[in-house]
Amino acid sequence: MGAAVHGKTILLIVGGGIAAFKALELVRELRRAGARVLPVLTENGARFVTPLSLAALAGEPVRTSLWDLEDEAAQEGSGMGHIQLSRAADLIVVCPATADLLARAATGQANDLASTLLLATDTPVLMVPAMNVRMWQHPATQRNVERLRGDGITVMQPDDGEMACGEYGPGRLPEVPAIVAEIGAAIAAQFGPKPLTGRHALVTAGPTHEPIDPVRFIGNHSSGKQGFAIAAALAQLGAHVTLVAGPVHLPTPAGVTRIDVTTAREMAVACESALPADIAVMVAAVADWRAEAADQKLKKGNAAPPTLTMVENPDILAGIGHHAQRPALVIGFAAETSDLLANAAAKRLRKRADWIVANDVSGDIFGADSTHVHLVTAAGAKDWGAQAKTQVAASLARRIADHFKP
Ligand code: CTP
Repeated sequence: MGAAVHGKTILLIVGGGIAAFKALELVRELRRAGARVLPVLTENGARFVTPLSLAALAGEPVRTSLWDLEDEAAQEGSGMGHIQLSRAADLIVVCPATADLLARAATGQANDLASTLLLATDTPVLMVPAMNVRMWQHPATQRNVERLRGDGITVMQPDDGEMACGEYGPGRLPEVPAIVAEIGAAIAAQFGPKPLTGRHALVTAGPTHEPIDPVRFIGNHSSGKQGFAIAAALAQLGAHVTLVAGPVHLPTPAGVTRIDVTTAREMAVACESALPADIAVMVAAVADWRAEAADQKLKKGNAAPPTLTMVENPDILAGIGHHAQRPALVIGFAAETSDLLANAAAKRLRKRADWIVANDVSGDIFGADSTHVHLVTAAGAKDWGAQAKTQVAASLARRIADHFKP
């Protein structure tokens, strides 16, 4: 990470929360890694850390009020108004991001220096929330977080643990090294190499829903998180990404073209029309069978419960693997509850995939943020260990980029 932030300018907005003191450690770590830190302290933030300590650690003046800043700009002519300040940075980090700051940013308010900076900028923003567990879990906060993510802002997941208020749960500020790593990733996403520029990647994600009648369907527990993370990671490396998504409520990653579908057959058609592609990563948990759907709602009260006649769905991965316009690199996933590697290896050959990411789904994997995978290739299987789905995505994207290296 050190290399990523070296020479970069980070505007750090410190909100008012008990975790604000950790922002001081963050400043120290960022400066140690060679970044310039421009600190902004909210009125409430100043109740937890002093402007003096923040300024001393940052080696920069601390901005607290919109009006000071405009005075500074007016008096000196060369001072920084809020517009310049928000644009002087390579990344804006809000740490800690309080429930109030999240809410104001999500609704586009501009009633103090921090919120005005966030509204006036087109620089990438990373928010690091910290608050009481109930405030974090409140539907209003979750709605705000979803909205911010939809606007392209990265909102870190707070840590679980005992809180300053004595309660237990998610809401703690993540540890400083994790924040520093996320900042490094955000900087790398902007300024890092883009080895997949000019490549087209097709990614499927999420479940499919197969109707039984006009009001019911057969579905599965796939959350879409892994496929969306892979689409995001490929886009970050410069690929043009077409993401064919089953029914999930996830924000579209930046720079990704999304096609929403419901059934396996719709997904197959969307994938076929997205060709040609250089890379296909089939992450979706496609329903293997569909029912012969009834035109009218099935009613109870008959002598016996209705019998569903199942019909096999097209295998999208196998279809792409055997296609005349087969992408140069075809990657599938294997969800297995037993004989993980043997089943994955057989699936690789059967579906004509180059690689299979083998996933043991016997545990509580669906909807989780982490996973344990093996990469199965012609050369054998490699254990990637347990890691965050976003990390699996980043590693896979890097591995794909290496594959296309001239
Ligand atoms: N897949 C697909 N179309 C299908 C079924 C699966 O594209 N109709 C893809 C998935 O996206 C995944 C891979 O095939 O990349 C493996 O999916 P999985 O559910 O593990 O395998 P199945 O095909 O269901 O095989 P099995 O029933 O033997 O587990």
